[in-house]
Amino acid sequence: MSERPPRTIEWIGDANGFVRIIDQTLLPIELRYRDCRSVEEVWEAIRSLRVRGAPAIGIAAAMGVVIGLQGHLNDFSPQLDRVCDYLATSRPTAVNLFWAIERMRCLARNLSATHAAQQIHDTLLAEAMAIEDEDRRMCWSIGENGAALIAEASGVLTHCNAGALATADHGTALAVLYAAHAQGKRLKVFADETRPLLQGARLTAWELKERGLDVTLICDSMAAQVMKEGKIQAVIVGADRIAANGDTANKIGTYGVAVLAKAHCIPFYVAAPSSTFDLSLQSGNGIPIEQRDPREVTHGLGRQTAPDGVTVYNPAFDVTPAALITAIITERGVIRPVTEEKVRQVLGG
Ligand code: MRU
Repeated sequence: MSERPPRTIEWIGDANGFVRIIDQTLLPIELRYRDCRSVEEVWEAIRSLRVRGAPAIGIAAAMGVVIGLQGHLNDFSPQLDRVCDYLATSRPTAVNLFWAIERMRCLARNLSATHAAQQIHDTLLAEAMAIEDEDRRMCWSIGENGAALIAEASGVLTHCNAGALATADHGTALAVLYAAHAQGKRLKVFADETRPLLQGARLTAWELKERGLDVTLICDSMAAQVMKEGKIQAVIVGADRIAANGDTANKIGTYGVAVLAKAHCIPFYVAAPSSTFDLSLQSGNGIPIEQRDPREVTHGLGRQTAPDGVTVYNPAFDVTPAALITAIITERGVIRPVTEEKVRQVLGG
């Protein structure tokens, strides 16, 4: 196990500095950092999942705004809009991306009447660092709030990667498991491999092993059998966007896992910070679902696995209805039952 876990994302230098990320497309074979020094490089890193997971995408975009304004002290305002609009096209589903971009844009606009461009640029860097720091603290609190839901000697299934690699640190779903583990609970974590891009196999299995948790990798299609065998006492996943009624978008396959959990009377938990809620959407029907390159399905394992020219459908996310979610664990408390009233009450909105 590593002494100090590597940092998913980090700003290096002053406002003219750059963002350093773990290139997650290379894991688990290689732990290599990648420096993004232009807004195009940040956009590409988000789009190609070098940096991924809803909170980490938001942090990367906030830092990308700072990079995009470098060398633009003379046309600061129009460049701010260009950069924000551009970064917002990198991926559509995780609301943290838009939340972070709009937070940066609003701050800059509010300061523009009274501050020089250089001062605003410095303040935007401080804001991006604050977004990162807040995320770390929110994730820690999610872990603290959720650990009580995980019983001693549980088998816990998770899907995709909602760990430290997807956030500033700790993760959301995995933060709960780290906190329960730190309390001395013996856990057996099952990680769905999470086709087509294998975030569960490549990232969650790697991260849990690095941090000393007991992890067993299964193919997505094995979840029902593992549940039927009585090996799973709880399911916990992260989220990319949660509507006001609690409907939750997360990695494709999550909805199926929730249906299976219901069929086997296993509690199904979602863990997410307040920055992942989109209270402007009444239900999950309005959540945009990212469609990705068919080659992720036909060539995803390093070789062609389907006939040339076959039609492919590749939605990257699905929406789990609130009715299938036992509770949503946030840094502000646990939402249970998952209703609009309770969501607004816990979030204080
Ligand atoms: O396509 P990805 O890898 O960005 O999808 C990530 C997920 O679906 C995560 O579960 C979600 O963003 C929560 S991360 C704390």
